Amino acid sequence: MVEPLADAAFGYAPGKLLLFGEHAVVYGQPAIAVSIDRGIRVAVSALDGPSGPVMRTSGLGLAAPVCVGPEPAGPAVLQRALTRLVELYGTDVRELQFVVDSAIVAGAGLGSSAALSVAMIRGVRRFLTLSRDDEAVLAHALELERVFHGNPSGVDHTVIARGGALSYLRGEKGPQFQRVVLGRPLHLAVGVAGPHAGTKRAVSALRERASRHGAVYEHLFAGVGMLAREARTALENGHLAAVGELMNVNQGYLNALGVSTPAIETLCHVARERGALGAKLTGAGGGGAMLALCDGDAAGAVASAFEDAGFSAFTTVVSNESVG
Ligand code: MEV
Repeated sequence: MVEPLADAAFGYAPGKLLLFGEHAVVYGQPAIAVSIDRGIRVAVSALDGPSGPVMRTSGLGLAAPVCVGPEPAGPAVLQRALTRLVELYGTDVRELQFVVDSAIVAGAGLGSSAALSVAMIRGVRRFLTLSRDDEAVLAHALELERVFHGNPSGVDHTVIARGGALSYLRGEKGPQFQRVVLGRPLHLAVGVAGPHAGTKRAVSALRERASRHGAVYEHLFAGVGMLAREARTALENGHLAAVGELMNVNQGYLNALGVSTPAIETLCHVARERGALGAKLTGAGGGGAMLALCDGDAAGAVASAFEDAGFSAFTTVVSNESVG
């Protein structure tokens, strides 16, 4: 862990899981997403000189600091995110350092880039003593998300900023989201198949495939949308067996869309064998994470089975009290 300076202002944001509707949400279908109980903390403090901003990280797999200014260093995408922050909040940001502490595996579909975006915006706003303006946080976090993902649907940073469970639609007149009031808490086991090739790449490769068979893919996206609508009712009524069944069907669609992998399929198979109610990949796919909905305490046994099969895993519980 990198120690922040004592006079730091903090921003925190949780990670997320997509329960239903990833990819189809880019094409105007509803998705259901939840925030999780692990996230990213950013401490913002003054730099010694106006030569930044600088970002120091732990948990993101980076050994050296990210710098913009006279001596740029670190991954270009993070440099661009820092530059965008200067554009959004002014040149004072050049005199700041951001100390990032992540408890979310990066590049696995768990929302690390959206959580980083929201936590950075919250931290910089607190440091600059700006108001706690939820709409500004959403709008500016989307600007950072665009640096990471090009043209995201907005579901990730929205659920991360709002917390809990949401139904999200990228409507023609802008995003629409509604809280999903869960009839029962969700006990989830999450398995990580490994890093994925990146959300931007997965979305553009799918767009290319879809362009070759427009009507077929439109049908697939509409089917995923239908699942998300039906799942919302089942979630609100606490019919977890039905939610699990719909997850299994969603995984079939994700396979048809070409974003599943053999490792994800293995994890889904292990989960179902161990009695999970349903299992599917979560996020962009092409690697990354999957989730299994379990009946209460069974989540621990399913996560252990993932580890026995050679994957990393954790459990999480999503309830109406989960906050962003
Ligand atoms: C990534 O978490 C979700 C995708 O649907 C992309 C997006 O919504 O922008 C794959």
